[in-house]
Amino acid sequence: MTLQELREEAERLRVAWAQGLAGAASLDELEALRVKFLGRKGHLTRLLSALKELPPQERAQAGRILNALKGEIVGALEEKGREIEARERERRLAAERYDFTLPGRWRPLGHLHPLTQVRLEIEDIFMRMGFDVASGPEVEDDYHNFEALNIPEDHPARDEWDSFYIDDVHLLRTHTSPVQIRVMKSRKPPVRIICPGRCYRRDTPDATHSPVFHQVELLWVERGLTMANLKWIIEEFVRRFFGPGYEMRFSADFFPFTEPSAQVHIHRQGGPWLEIMGAGMVDPAVLTEVGYDPEEVTGFAFGLGIERMAMLRWGIEDIRLFYQNDIRFLSQF
Ligand code: PHE
Repeated sequence: MTLQELREEAERLRVAWAQGLAGAASLDELEALRVKFLGRKGHLTRLLSALKELPPQERAQAGRILNALKGEIVGALEEKGREIEARERERRLAAERYDFTLPGRWRPLGHLHPLTQVRLEIEDIFMRMGFDVASGPEVEDDYHNFEALNIPEDHPARDEWDSFYIDDVHLLRTHTSPVQIRVMKSRKPPVRIICPGRCYRRDTPDATHSPVFHQVELLWVERGLTMANLKWIIEEFVRRFFGPGYEMRFSADFFPFTEPSAQVHIHRQGGPWLEIMGAGMVDPAVLTEVGYDPEEVTGFAFGLGIERMAMLRWGIEDIRLFYQNDIRFLSQF
């Protein structure tokens, strides 16, 4: 190669380079262009290695020509790169524009079922008074659900608890009272528990009956307890759950496992009397059955319906509403 030929070749490269550069629209295309001219096998690189074919006295001049071209290419590459980057940033910003004046997206938050709310609140009230929360099986046996509670087979009181039997001895518990038996048999007095839980009765569903419902049982056994303590506990519960201003009335009732037994009603001035629970002093026969000495300790118990508490609090007139999962109903609590 002669110096003249190298000059012409460099000129052609400059033109080819200028064309390539004008056509490069992205960073990728620019990089491809760089490789094509400055890469290990690039046009300019090839020309630079041809320098040694020239006579020594021409090499310096040829070198200057090629280096000038290389400087142009490197400088143009950088400039074009910045240009493309800036353009791409603009485009991205325009595409991703946020409208900060749009209203936010509202996601509805779930909440606890009203029966759960009531259960937790009742648990809270009694835990603050020093009661433990106990539990027992929903599939019970005849002994705990009836016999130990002083309701022998063929006792007419069994009619009150229409039961779902699983087999000859097992049934779905009809109340939470069997937990009294289980707790007393496993602990020594004093015993102070509540037991919330699901109960089952063979009732036809209507506005006030459901075959599945929930109770909270309370049991306190200790030396020297009287009906006055029971009354205080219930009064305190009513005040905390329903608020102040309620009057309370005990009327005689009968449960085989309590003696005496009472039905508790409450009312507020001008309002009707509302039954809130069955209660009573634990029958000595029950204390004896679990191995306690009725001469040593006395106790009292009550059982209330969680559904009933919720219905009274919110003025709900049909118990079935709790189980239908109608969001129009549930969202009100
Ligand atoms: N277990 C009784 C019922 O379901 C309620 C009750 C509990 C009554 C404790 C007195 C004492 O009807």
